[in-house]
Amino acid sequence: MKIFSNPQELKIYLKEIDKTVGFVPTMGALHEGHISLVKKAKEQNEVVVVSIFVNPTQFLKGEDFEKYPRKDEADKQICKLSGVDVLFFPQAEDIYTDDEVSLNAPRIRGFVLEGNSRPSHFDGVLTVVMKLLNIVNPTRAYFGKKDAQQLNLISLMVKQLFMSVEIVPVDTVREKDGLALSSRNVYLSSPQRKEALKIVSSLHSAGMMVSKNILNSELITNEMRKILAPLEISYVEILNRDFQKIEILEIGNSVILVEAKVGVTRLLDNIWL
Ligand code: PAJ
Repeated sequence: MKIFSNPQELKIYLKEIDKTVGFVPTMGALHEGHISLVKKAKEQNEVVVVSIFVNPTQFLKGEDFEKYPRKDEADKQICKLSGVDVLFFPQAEDIYTDDEVSLNAPRIRGFVLEGNSRPSHFDGVLTVVMKLLNIVNPTRAYFGKKDAQQLNLISLMVKQLFMSVEIVPVDTVREKDGLALSSRNVYLSSPQRKEALKIVSSLHSAGMMVSKNILNSELITNEMRKILAPLEISYVEILNRDFQKIEILEIGNSVILVEAKVGVTRLLDNIWL
């Protein structure tokens, strides 16, 4: 496995090998969720590039940028064992200067849901993803459905800015008990981890209602809120795949999204129905 920290050197290397490239951008603290993106990228491309970069511009003041888990050595081993060909491991100064061109997330779709509790978060995500895509110039880039809004906004960016990369969505990987894997799960104490399962139960109950043909969004979200009640709920929403609110759930074109705080840890989850 080759490791680069310099963007120009990586660019030159990838240009010279002239192969199909699958790219998996991450912030490290790798888990099976990240690995599933790598596996998919390996299936579909000749070369797989993973980036590990805890991007400062997507954290708001007071968020967990400083204490975000950093597991550099373990991550390198995981990448090697997963068959990653190239690891891009830049420092902040390789990516940012002190006077920057940057992207703005769309003012509506970027400032609802997670963007409502974290205004400007998605400006930082889109800016860094654009930079990373320009450095790697991949054939395909892989993003988890778990971060549904992020995936939606990145797809929108690629479309609106006429970029040629193919964005590939990947299903959410879960623990045996259903909790979605997340680098932030390490913040949870064991009682909090149990509390966090209410998020899974609420989505499960929504799925059961839909299977009984109860499709009214308000009925479904009210039921979910009852299950989530002990947690601090940021949002429970039913949207179509264009991220517009819908009163009646459309099977095959809907996402049910939850964000709730367990202690101080914000957890996201969703199901695509
Ligand atoms: P990070 O949280 O490290 O996630 C990297 C990728 O892994 C994202 O596409 C995310 O959706 C996916 N992922 C996380 N948990 C997953 C799970 N349980 N199952 C499947 N996929 C999962 O998302 C980011 O980093 C950053 O915002 C980034 C896009 C790298 C920009 O800085």
